[in-house]
Amino acid sequence: MTPQPKAVLFDAYGTLFDVASALAAAPLSAAEKSALARLWREKQLHYTWLRTLAGHYADFDQVTEQALDHALRAFRLPLSPPDRAAILAATRALIPFPEADAVLHRLRAAGLRTAILSNGTPAALAALLANAGWTSLFDAVLSASAVRAFKTDPRVYALALRHFDAPADHLAFVSANGWDAHGAAAFGMRVYWCNRAGAPDEALPG
Ligand code: LAC
Repeated sequence: MTPQPKAVLFDAYGTLFDVASALAAAPLSAAEKSALARLWREKQLHYTWLRTLAGHYADFDQVTEQALDHALRAFRLPLSPPDRAAILAATRALIPFPEADAVLHRLRAAGLRTAILSNGTPAALAALLANAGWTSLFDAVLSASAVRAFKTDPRVYALALRHFDAPADHLAFVSANGWDAHGAAAFGMRVYWCNRAGAPDEALPG
């Protein structure tokens, strides 16, 4: 039998928290929100990869803001400064996916340690957890900010090894992002891909 992992690590955005919920109150049509949410997320991730590749680090809050501005320009959606600010503020109070609370409580009840391992900044992750009432459900919040690089740079996954003083295969990692699941698997972690979108598998290592 596979031994219990030393900790279960969770990706945050898209895995525990619904990123599209940042647009819930925006003065846009449902179709605009859906298109904007998709391009915003796509660009946010592209920018993390491009910045890491080129060594042009900016933290996830900045990347998120720059990706939003790109997506607003792309769809010619001139939101007022207060509406734009409200969307960015909402990224700190994203709605958790409905099953996540019960899952986290069950893991804790089973005696497992839990942590966040995310691109998000420490401040943004702390705000998300506080808003969800989850601050006491995690032993650690590990942010890519500490290594000034983004997933799938191995330095990000390595944060968990150092924190839990465990080899990669003693750590479980849960992500809804296929590319992130592959990144952690290639790094050697035991990965659980929570495939919310029913996406096809990525042709990536891991
Ligand atoms: C994160 C992004 C990749 O939380 O979803 O790291």
